Amino acid sequence: MNRTSAAINRIQPSPTIAVTNKAAELKRQGRDIIGLGAGEPDFDTPDFVKEAAIAAIHANQTKYTGVDGTPECKAAVQAKFKRDNNLDYGLDQISINSGGKHTIFNALLATLDPGDEVVIPAPYWVSYPDIVLLAGATPVVIQCGVEQGFKLSPAQLEAAITPKTRWFIFNSPSNPTGAAYTRTELKALADVLMRHPQVLVLADDMYEHIVYDDFDFGTLAEIEPGLYDRTLTVNGASKAYAMTGWRIGFAGGPAWIIKAMAKLQSQSTSNPCSISMAATVAALNGDQSFLAERNAAFQRRRDLVVSMLNQTPGLICPRPEGAFYVYPDCSGLIGKTTPTGTVLINDEEVAAYFLETEGVAVVHGAAFGGSPAFRISYATSDAVLEEACKRIQRAVGNLR
Ligand SMILES: Cc1ncc(COP(=O)(O)O)c(C=O)c1O
Repeated sequence: MNRTSAAINRIQPSPTIAVTNKAAELKRQGRDIIGLGAGEPDFDTPDFVKEAAIAAIHANQTKYTGVDGTPECKAAVQAKFKRDNNLDYGLDQISINSGGKHTIFNALLATLDPGDEVVIPAPYWVSYPDIVLLAGATPVVIQCGVEQGFKLSPAQLEAAITPKTRWFIFNSPSNPTGAAYTRTELKALADVLMRHPQVLVLADDMYEHIVYDDFDFGTLAEIEPGLYDRTLTVNGASKAYAMTGWRIGFAGGPAWIIKAMAKLQSQSTSNPCSISMAATVAALNGDQSFLAERNAAFQRRRDLVVSMLNQTPGLICPRPEGAFYVYPDCSGLIGKTTPTGTVLINDEEVAAYFLETEGVAVVHGAAFGGSPAFRISYATSDAVLEEACKRIQRAVGNLR
């Protein structure tokens, strides 16, 4: 009766969503909780984007559209790839989906078979391995620790690729570490990929526009045109435009993958929300100057959090180039004892200790395949971040 499928039994619920829910539940119970778990900007969707959505409703753009996007939204995405990434895609090479997660889900489900391997550098975004498992394929995880700035080396990539490798999933700037690869680093990885023509490349550029200190963002298909024919370049409205709830992700890539994704979408969600697509057209075609203003706030917060965490004995916090996360290594806390006598044996216990004693919700590193560490999302106000870091410092100070 209550039998769930083998496919669903292979995966776990999203741990980042679980932390967010737990923090919300404790808040409802009246606890003083600072949630640093959520992966979304605290800024509002820009007003001009909201206005476009309202106009779309009044214009009755409220019906089914083409399965993988309206022509207007595809054209805006096409222009975005040209403008920002110097990538030329025909409209038959563009797919619009209900969030970036859906884009990646469609791409992997449409192309993977049992026996296929997918190379994923860790720490990774939580959903990659689970989507691969759902598709019946095998994640091949490569450990990239704090000592290498959480970045994959060309030698590691070379060693992980086998004749069974179907995809290489690559994310820069990274969720959860914020690490971003320079153009030189990308070229070195691309050189490895050029030696293995059977490997498809999924470049997850979700945080493209959230970079600091004049970081020069690049993406693999742009850096190495030889990869263009087998690279799916994934992006979306969620992070840059503070549109996480609108659920729009998109991709540019080989027409055969885009077509297979549309086939899957035609039998599952059908078109993404018509109103959200109208909003995305405005976001992509509109004035982009608010991005720099928002990044200035993010950069200030990054510097605050990195500085306060590095003043905490036992934590090592690299200064990331992008996204709105930091990923402090907490090796120095493992084996220490809490005031109530618990020995902290892993990062899940460290995160639980912060939540129970100081009401600070972070996501433990094991969720991202990179331990011992934890992820802090600094997409919240400077005052809240300062208080959260003080609480973490106090919690660490109370360990023996
Ligand atoms: C690296 C990365 N890729 C994809 C996504 C999915 O984004 P969306 O909310 O548009 O589904 C996220 C969201 O957290 C992300 O961090």
